[in-house]
Amino acid sequence: MPGFEWLGKEEREAVLDVMDRGVLFRYEFQDQRQGAFRVREFEEAFAAYAGARYALAVSSGTAALKVALAALGVGPGDEVITQGFTFVATWETIFECGCTPVFCEIDRTLCMDPADLEKKITDKTRCIVPVHMMGAQARIKEIKAIADKRGIPVLEDTAQSAGGFLGGKGLGTFGAAGTFSFDSVKTLTTGEGGMIITDDQGLYQNASEYHDHGHDHKPVGRGNEGRRFLGFNYRMMELQGALGLAQLKKLPDMVKTQQANKAALKEALARIPGVSFREILDPAGDSATFLSWFMPGAEETERLAGMLAQEGAGAIPWGKNTWHAYPHWEHLHAGSSAIKSGWPFKRPEGDLSYGPEALPQTAALLARCLSWQIMLGWGEEKLEQMTQAINHAVANW
Ligand SMILES: Cc1ncc(COP(=O)(O)O)c(C=O)c1O
Repeated sequence: MPGFEWLGKEEREAVLDVMDRGVLFRYEFQDQRQGAFRVREFEEAFAAYAGARYALAVSSGTAALKVALAALGVGPGDEVITQGFTFVATWETIFECGCTPVFCEIDRTLCMDPADLEKKITDKTRCIVPVHMMGAQARIKEIKAIADKRGIPVLEDTAQSAGGFLGGKGLGTFGAAGTFSFDSVKTLTTGEGGMIITDDQGLYQNASEYHDHGHDHKPVGRGNEGRRFLGFNYRMMELQGALGLAQLKKLPDMVKTQQANKAALKEALARIPGVSFREILDPAGDSATFLSWFMPGAEETERLAGMLAQEGAGAIPWGKNTWHAYPHWEHLHAGSSAIKSGWPFKRPEGDLSYGPEALPQTAALLARCLSWQIMLGWGEEKLEQMTQAINHAVANW
């Protein structure tokens, strides 16, 4: 998923152009910027690419989640459901809004299991946050149908899946809003950065004001604008907007390259006895940042991981991962907080606790799951070396 591999003269020229104008701020400076509004142009181009009416660029994917949740109006007393396989940022932001994260199992898509989602909904559920993990689709249509029946908004965490589609429709456009990350390891990168997309004008307006200290952005000049509510600063810089525009032009080719590299390895990997692949709902819309597969059991997973590592083709064993897998979020289980009062775990209305054993289905799936991150720069030689590593494992199984 790394757009940094394709940082080139286009990005350099775009950044230097911003420097030459001397305007780093997305608002104001009308005279000096000579018509260049790079963050706004990036928003417009990204919205058009993903197929959304509105886009708001922010400072990170974490900020995008925070701003979107605030724009949806969720807060203390509200439960927000997400999945037990994601980056910690998804549920950090739920806590950050004062809400209670509720964790849901994943299924063979490595994303939210709709059957478990049904069980986790209560009369306090105010938002559902499925995560399109590792470049590909969650069962977003089923999740949306479950949420719609109860009038609960869906916020799609699409941080890892820019360039992903389902049936030709952009990931992030199914729910009330979708959020993206452009951090340093994502397919489209601006170093740090994020985006919120939505078709809802009111939601966009809330997000736009909240991410900029409440400024209502009416054209009366900064400092004279009105405000409806408290906000914060999650603004994106012009330098990032310029980078984003240059990277967005490359995104379709990045996805094609990832898809080709992934297909080459998948074919070879299928020869290993017992391998079954992650369920991809729409292979044509898979942004193909990862190739993920399951072994029959934890023992086979460990054995294959060891063999591949020895051949210089090490895979990620998700069963041991501490940043993405619920069973290993020890700070969550211990209720560890930097805040002396113990918030957000200790609350006047009752303390929260999260046991490491709470998601057995997720734990069992991840214990059998291995992934390769697909790189853009893998040429024939590297693919051949990885195929040899697979062949070696087949021969010695
Ligand atoms: C699923 C998910 N959500 C949110 C984020 C947060 O994005 P950022 O690093 O831009 O804050 C990430 C980052 O990897 C992620 O993977």
